Amino acid sequence: MTSTISFDRVSDIYDATRGFPPGVSEQVTDFILNLVSPTAETKFYETGIGTGRIAVPIARRGYSYTGVDVSEKMLAELHQKLEGVSHRLTAIKGDATALPFDDNFFDVALTVHVFHLISAWKQALAEIRRVLKPDGILLYTHGQATSVSADEDVNSQRWEFTERWRAILDGYNQPLPRYGATEEEVLTELQA
Ligand SMILES: C[S@@+](CC[C@H](N)C(=O)[O-])C[C@H]1O[C@@H](n2cnc3c(N)ncnc32)[C@H](O)[C@@H]1O
Repeated sequence: MTSTISFDRVSDIYDATRGFPPGVSEQVTDFILNLVSPTAETKFYETGIGTGRIAVPIARRGYSYTGVDVSEKMLAELHQKLEGVSHRLTAIKGDATALPFDDNFFDVALTVHVFHLISAWKQALAEIRRVLKPDGILLYTHGQATSVSADEDVNSQRWEFTERWRAILDGYNQPLPRYGATEEEVLTELQA
């Protein structure tokens, strides 16, 4: 197990606090589908599928979708949304760094707000590359927490909060905890 942050504790408030405003989910789904032009055979995969914020709307459109997450409770929320819905979505408990899938299996892989949480993120990236077909598509979105764009100009309140939190922890000789990758690190690794 490589994740140091459990989402079990926030599974019941995740959608209320991280869900998309009305209408936005459809826009996100349309954007993704327009980008990858899927067919009925296209196989989607998501690392850190969570409550299915991205996955469920795509699965509702009939596409084959597989996801892995370490949090049983996040997965339980996802499965609840699919009750009574005809779908081709499989979401299983697992770790991003050891995927239980064959090489070159999926056509499209997605990661949304996950890589800032995974300490062994290079291994997680290698696993995605392994299970993704050579001509497959990776759609990558970073978590904001350690994004390089999290600066004073972009989000002054969060910047101020982080700086004060950092100062308090420094006072106790404890550095601000860092779990996974920054967006810049992942993009550099992907380019390499
Ligand atoms: C911020 S949530 C994002 C969920 C979903 N991708 C979304 O956009 O709504 C991060 C998710 O990654 C999962 N996660 C964290 N570390 C993981 C790991 N090593 N392997 C698989 N899932 C992980 C968490 O349990 C959580 O459900």
